[in-house]
This record gives sequence, structure tokens and C-alpha cells, in this order.
Amino acid sequence: MRARAFQIEAEGGPLRRVDKALPSAGPGEVVVALRATTINNHDLINLAGGYRGLPLPRIPFSDGCGEVVDVGNAVSGLRRGDRVIVQFFPNWQAGPPTAAALSTVRGDHVEGCLQTHLRARADAVFKAPDHLSDAEAAALGCSGLTAWRSLVVEGCLKPGQVVVVQGSGGVSTCAISIAHALGARVIATSSSNDKLLQARALGADATVNYREQPDWAKAVLKLTEGRGADHIIEVGGPDTFAQSLRALSLGGHLSVIGALTGTHGTDLSPRAIMAKNATVKGITVGSREHLQDFCRMVASTGMRPRIARSFVWTDADAALACMREQRHFGKLALAITD
Ligand SMILES: NC(=O)c1ccc[n+]([C@@H]2O[C@H](COP(=O)([O-])OP(=O)(O)OC[C@H]3O[C@@H](n4cnc5c(N)ncnc54)[C@H](OP(=O)(O)O)[C@@H]3O)[C@@H](O)[C@H]2O)c1
Repeated sequence: MRARAFQIEAEGGPLRRVDKALPSAGPGEVVVALRATTINNHDLINLAGGYRGLPLPRIPFSDGCGEVVDVGNAVSGLRRGDRVIVQFFPNWQAGPPTAAALSTVRGDHVEGCLQTHLRARADAVFKAPDHLSDAEAAALGCSGLTAWRSLVVEGCLKPGQVVVVQGSGGVSTCAISIAHALGARVIATSSSNDKLLQARALGADATVNYREQPDWAKAVLKLTEGRGADHIIEVGGPDTFAQSLRALSLGGHLSVIGALTGTHGTDLSPRAIMAKNATVKGITVGSREHLQDFCRMVASTGMRPRIARSFVWTDADAALACMREQRHFGKLALAITD
């Protein structure tokens, strides 16, 4: 039996399917027979050649869930048959982010999950919550953990607080589920009324269509009797940042996560941050320690990341095209088979 993978061989070039020898686990390592991966915006940028200095060829995709099929010497706590998820930052175990912890990303610098068999350090995978499907579990690794760290680790979310999520992608839908499970009040925004209905079904208490109401901050202020939101998950970037600050409560927590509207500057005045007494926190996913706490919460609440659609992994190009169209609500998944 051979392992199979899709790899990037030239920056911005197509994915190429390759056969590989089946890996075996060295000391401190495991081999995971992957069953699912989910797509992140990061993967789109990686495939488009948007990150400089990455090795070629490389196997992309950071998210993964599968079964441990080989365990090397000096590994404790994992056995064959365990179902695990794969960490985004394999070197970030615990503590605050450091340059060393953030220097290695799964799918960028070390082999990613668009393959049947992943060899990884045992401390870079983590047991998956039992109640989740493989795709749901894979989705915890990047967007789920980002939402968790934003709201709970850094934002110290409390029941009854107001959370605003922007749009209906992987991070935002996971943030709806986390906030709802922890007793917060969620205001979801989207460009689509159909997606806003889905957001309500997932746990949003109020919704705003940001295309119909471009001044969506005003709508958030109205929905909160002028107080504003305690937490905002900022995925828009330059074109949404100033409004996010307007929609924030005094002393609120703004998690800066994404830049879906581009990388140009914003006309925001730093004075607005001061006047709001705001905490503006940049977030890049999270550590193993954060993932451990998140998985515990997921297991105890029964929370499930929303999978919008699942593709066969050999149809990765179709799934990536679907991701670019932004018509999904939640995560797009790929089912990996031998
Ligand atoms: N910092 C981190 O650790 C981290 C981790 C994960 C993701 N990210 C970043 O976070 C962003 C979102 O990632 P994702 O995986 O959730 O993406 P995604 O699944 O592709 O989500 C895309 C959705 O975002 C919404 N959107 C687009 N433009 C918007 C705007 N101007 N205002 C409000 N919503 C808008 C749209 O929702 P509607 O169709 O409902 O309007 C769109 O469907 C990306 O920039 C990604 O790179 C960062």
C-alpha cells in the first residue's frame, strides 16, 4: 500500500497528485491515517503563492483529523486507534506566542493534511472529542481555536455579554456556537438573509445584513440600546475595522483576526481606540494548551462546528473554488479515503 497526497510544486501552480511510501513513526512521532480536512482562507493564500519563502514541493492544508496507525518510541498518551486532530502551530505548546512558536505552520513549513498519511510529532496532534465527525473535529484546529482564543482566552467572555460576529465563514460560525453555548448574546452579520436565518438556527439572537445596512455599527448600537458589543470578531480588516470600533462598547474587546477586505490601510484614528478604552487584540490561532481547554469545552457542551458541505478529497479543486465563491455557511470539508 502507498500513501497519496496532493502537493504544490510551483508557487501559484496547480495541485499535483503524488504517490508516496507509507511513512513510519520515528521516536516521539505518530503516523495518522487522515480521514478529513477542512479548508481555511489561509490555505487559499498558500495555494495562490501568497506566502513568501515556503519550501517546495509542499503538501498544504493545516486542518486534519484521522486515526493513529503507528506510534514511535518515547510516545506517551497516544495509542494506535486513537482519533486525533492536528495542530496549526506544531511548535506552540503553551504560554504566550513567541517567534519560535509561530515560526512553523502545518501545511506551510511542515507537511500538511491534503494526504492519506501524516507523520507528525506526537505533541503536535491532540485527541479529538468523541461526539464530533471527522470533518467537525478537523475544523477545531484553525477556525474553531481562533474563535475560542478570541472570545474566551483573550476576551474572558462572560454569560450575558454581547458578541458580534462578521459574516458566516468558519471562524464566525464557530464563534456563534461558542458564544451561544457560554450564555452570551450573539449578533450575527452577513451579506445574505438566507445565511442570517442559518445563523439564528445556530444560536444568533439578532442579525444584521451588512449589505442592506452598510452602516451596520449603527444597527448594533440600536440592538444594544446604544451600549455596543462587548466582543467583536473582526474578520473584515481595513473596510470593517472603523465600524467595528464604533460598534464596540466602552471597554470592549476587539479581536483582530482577518483581512477579508484586503491589506490596505484604514482611516481609523487611534484616538477612537483610546476614547473607547478598547482592547484591540491581534490573534493568530492558538497553542496546544488553548486547544486542550477548547476540546474540553466542546466535549462538555456537545458543541459542533458547522460543516457547510463535504467534498471527496480528490475534488479539492472544486472545494477550493466553492470557498472562493463565499457562498458557504460554516466550513468546507474534504473526506480523505485511501
Ligand atoms: N488570525 C487567525 O488566527 C485566523 C484564523 C482563521 C481565519 N483567519 C482569517 O479570518 C478571515 C475569515 O476566515 P474564515 O475561514 O472564517 O473565512 P471564510 O470561511 O472564507 O469566510 C468568508 C465569509 O466572510 C464574510 N465576509 C466577507 N467579507 C466581509 C465583510 N466585508 N464584512 C463582513 N463579513 C465579510 C462573508 O460572509 P457572508 O457571506 O455571510 O457575508 C464570507 O462568506 C480570513 O481573513 C482568514 O484569513 C484568521
